[in-house]
Amino acid sequence: MTRPIIIDTDPGQDDAVAILLALASPELDVVGITAVAGNVPLPLTEKNARIICELAGRPDMKVFAGASRPMVRDLVTAEYVHGKTGLDGPDLPEPTMPLQDQHGVDFIIETCRRQKITLCALGPLTNVALALNRAPDIASNIEEIVIMGGGLFEGGNTTPAAEFNIYVDPHAADVVFRSGIPIVVMPLDLTHTALTSRARVEAFRAIGTGPAIATAELLDFFERFDVEKYGTEGGPLHDPNVIAYLLKPELYKGRHINLEVEISSELTMGMTVADWWGVTKRPANCTYMRYVDDAGFFDLLIERIGKL
Ligand code: BDR
Ligand code: CA
Repeated sequence: MTRPIIIDTDPGQDDAVAILLALASPELDVVGITAVAGNVPLPLTEKNARIICELAGRPDMKVFAGASRPMVRDLVTAEYVHGKTGLDGPDLPEPTMPLQDQHGVDFIIETCRRQKITLCALGPLTNVALALNRAPDIASNIEEIVIMGGGLFEGGNTTPAAEFNIYVDPHAADVVFRSGIPIVVMPLDLTHTALTSRARVEAFRAIGTGPAIATAELLDFFERFDVEKYGTEGGPLHDPNVIAYLLKPELYKGRHINLEVEISSELTMGMTVADWWGVTKRPANCTYMRYVDDAGFFDLLIERIGKL
C-alpha cells in the first residue's frame, strides 16, 4: 500500500532533493506540495517547487502557495546559503505547469478532512500551524508529522541556539509541538552527520540523467556554504532525511522525548529545548532522531533519483 503524504516545503536545494526522492518512490503517494516562505520568499519557493516537479517528469503534481510570512515575526530568509533564487546551481527551465488556485493552508485542511495523511515538513512550520489553528479537527487524521528542524547537541545554524526552520517561525513550531499529533524530528544533530562528499556527488553526476545531473549541481552549490563554515569535506543534506525515514525507518535511531520551543527570549528564540536525558517530567511529544546510517541514506538517494 502506498502512503499518502503532503510535502510542505521552501525549496531550497535540499528540499529539492527531498522532493525528487519522494517523487521517485512508489511507496509514497504525494497528494500535493505546499510551499511556504523560508529559504527565499514565497513567490520563489512555489516556483521552485514547480521547477522540481517538472524536473522529475511530474507536471501533473499539484503545487499550492501557502503562507508568505511567519505567524508573528518578520520573515527571515537564507539567500546566503541557497543563492538568490533558492535553487542556485543547475540551469533549470522556468516552469510551465500551473500553480493551483487554492491556498496551501486550505489544501492541507481539506485533504486532512478527507483522508489519513502524513505531513512532511521541510521548512518553517507556518502552513501546518495555521491549518491546525484554523481546523483543530484535522489532527485526528494526521498520522504523523515528520519535521526537519531543531538541534540540541549541535546548537543552532542560524543563531547559536536555533536552527533555521524553527527560528523563522518559532510560534508555528510551538503550535505543532503542542498539537499531540505523533511527531518525528530530524534535527541538525542528525543531518550534520549526513554529509555530501565528492564521491557521493559524483555518483549522482555519473548516472547521467537530467534529474541526477541536476542533483549533483544542486549539491555542488549547496555544500559550499557549510564546507567553509564547518571545515568539513561535504555539507549536510538536511531535508531528504524526512522522506528517507518514511522509506527506510531502519536507517534512523532516536528517542521518544519532550521537546519545547523557545518563543519568549530574543537571545534563544526558536531554540528546541529537547529533553534527551529525561531530566524533566514533561511528557514526550516527539521522536527525536539522533543517528542516521549515512551510507544507507546516500545509497537510497542515489538508487531512487537514478530511476527518475
Ligand atoms: C533547514 O533550513 C533550510 O536552509 C534547509 O532547507 C533545511 O530545511 C536546515 O536548517
Ligand atoms: Ca527546507
